Amino acid sequence: MEKKKSANTPAGPAQSFAAVASSRRHFIGLVGGGAVLAAAVPLAGCTADLPEAAVQPWRNPDRETDIRRFMLAHALLAPNPHNRQPWIADLREAGRIHLICDGERLLPETDPVGRQVLIGCGAFVELAVIAAAQRGVAVKVELFPGGAPADLQLPKDSRVATLILGESASTPADPLFAQIVLRHTRKTAYASDRALPDTLLSSWAETATRLGLRSGVAAGAAAMDPIRRIAREAYEIEATTANTWLESARLMRIGPGAIAANPDGISLNSPLVRALHAVGLFDPMEVPVRGSKSLERVMERWVPFETASGFFWLASPGNTRPMQVAAGRVYVRSHLLATAAGVDMHPLSQALQEFPEMRGPYEAIHKTLGLTGSGETLQMLSRVGFAVEQRGPSPRRSLGSILRT
Ligand SMILES: Cc1cc2nc3c(=O)[nH]c(=O)nc-3n(C[C@H](O)[C@H](O)[C@H](O)COP(=O)(O)O)c2cc1C
Repeated sequence: MEKKKSANTPAGPAQSFAAVASSRRHFIGLVGGGAVLAAAVPLAGCTADLPEAAVQPWRNPDRETDIRRFMLAHALLAPNPHNRQPWIADLREAGRIHLICDGERLLPETDPVGRQVLIGCGAFVELAVIAAAQRGVAVKVELFPGGAPADLQLPKDSRVATLILGESASTPADPLFAQIVLRHTRKTAYASDRALPDTLLSSWAETATRLGLRSGVAAGAAAMDPIRRIAREAYEIEATTANTWLESARLMRIGPGAIAANPDGISLNSPLVRALHAVGLFDPMEVPVRGSKSLERVMERWVPFETASGFFWLASPGNTRPMQVAAGRVYVRSHLLATAAGVDMHPLSQALQEFPEMRGPYEAIHKTLGLTGSGETLQMLSRVGFAVEQRGPSPRRSLGSILRT
């Protein structure tokens, strides 16, 4: 496994919290004088590496001997919004895993209808199925055994799926299995001058079609510039809307102690962020205001997110709950295919979000991608390319913490 270099940068507006603080120029400008700087100096030798306990689940999930634990040890490495990891695995019935969406881990502001959370659950299901195949076990996935939740609200503790394990051990292994522990969402700048391999583009398209969705890649300035403009505007809206900004702020884990105690959400671990936070100069609960210096700095941090070889998009016919789960299955397979090809993938979800202030960018991104006429729903939008820095895994909750036995 690759050596991790530093903490993962966080998602959404919280990305900016970290980045504002990690700008040395700004840091020195902020602290200005000796007393505060002196307070920060003892942290200078600190490392940004995440505490080992928080990334331990990535180390060797293969060591699990029980088949259901083996499946779940891989499934919990799934990509998911804000790294909330909203899953509970109920093992009380032999030969089955009941996947329940943890009602305490929803994102009511940025994901008011629970669509993104269900995409994360779909990714979880797909990794569980891939892991089972590695042990030769077939899995039947029964979605929403208690009925699909209503379109506009995901009730707490919804039962998303029952995974029914087959008896025989003759299912062929999935070639993507080896990529599960290598897949990471890299949030640094991407190289701007490298094309994506054609074989990857065709395998993405084929994967989406097989599960009833449609994917595409926008590449080249003419296709990418309008998407960049919409994504930037959407981010500014998310950052200046108090409820959405504060939702991210509350999920921040600052420093190794907080990250180890809660290995989820948005990890901020750079020595400078920790120093600023320690001396009270970094207050994530302060919502950026339009026209302010603080919003300007927040938006400066969006610049690396505009670097990419292209934008990968994934759309579904309609927007049913099963389609959202299927989108998660396709998304994680697409990310695993990218990992195998040495390509990075980073979702930029702001323009897809359903809170009222986001309506303009939501409509604009659907129109720009040609989805309005077809009635399709955009489920994922990610920049894709080649990260210039190889960062390590993001935190994960332990296997034990998601089990109900
Ligand atoms: C539905 C969905 C939406 C996401 N949206 C964003 C996003 O807007 N910005 C971002 O930085 N990451 C986004 N991510 C990536 C998550 O932040 C990432 O999967 C999570 O932090 C776990 O990290 P990992 O993928 O490296 O394991 C999204 C992931 C999913 C599944």
